[in-house]
Amino acid sequence: MPDIRVLPDLDAVSRAAADELIELVPRTVAARGAFHIALSGGSTPKRLFKELVTRARTSLPWNKIHVYWGDERSVPPWHADSNYGMAKSALLDPVRIDYAKVRRMHGEASDLDAAATVYECDLAAVMTNGTPVFDYVMLGMGPDGHCASLFPNTRALDVTDRWVVANPVDSPVAKGKTTRLTFTARTINAGRNVRFLIAGADKADALAHVLQGPRDPHRYPSQLVQPTSGSLVWFVDAAAAAQLQGGPS
Ligand code: 6PG
Repeated sequence: MPDIRVLPDLDAVSRAAADELIELVPRTVAARGAFHIALSGGSTPKRLFKELVTRARTSLPWNKIHVYWGDERSVPPWHADSNYGMAKSALLDPVRIDYAKVRRMHGEASDLDAAATVYECDLAAVMTNGTPVFDYVMLGMGPDGHCASLFPNTRALDVTDRWVVANPVDSPVAKGKTTRLTFTARTINAGRNVRFLIAGADKADALAHVLQGPRDPHRYPSQLVQPTSGSLVWFVDAAAAAQLQGGPS
């Protein structure tokens, strides 16, 4: 049964995710000397980032945390739509991260296929036996059931021999026709701790299909998230969980 944790609202979802990270990071650093995290973009993580800054700015070993992204829009880092830019202002600058340990995806590149390959090289630091293994993969989910930039009916969904790809997308959820850099499902599923943070009534229909509908990952790509050996937790608010049958597990 999936580990679905329904919280009253986005604030509670963010507090629950922060609680877990505040416990997990020191334990991982003590065990392995570092914590490698892949952040998601969009708006949902902002509240979690604020929670971490407020509660753990001085208590977490930020100098041992290596930061990556699971996807990026095709914009420069200073653009309002940049996932890196959002995290930089909401989290990385306030906690005074060591930017030598921050690897952003170069969404501004003119050749995004090349940028994807470059990022795969950047993953060398988290490689374990030839596979990039993140301690934590943070994901959001769009109202269409996408995660990272694995959008419905896009070519990245079927890629199994890459870690990062440039994925052409034509969707109103992605503001029209664009190309996104994204982890493949293979990279997400190699994660030790994979976490969805999902809030809002607009996600309820997709979440019910993803978790309780027939398997149709081309239509609901978040169904591809099935960690090989890691743990998967869905932190969702009541509005997003409203259409789940029988309530959470
Ligand atoms: C992105 C994200 C994407 C996001 C979902 C949810 O680049 O947009 O990585 O996968 O997590 O679209 O976005 P919200 O949190 O804004 O609802």
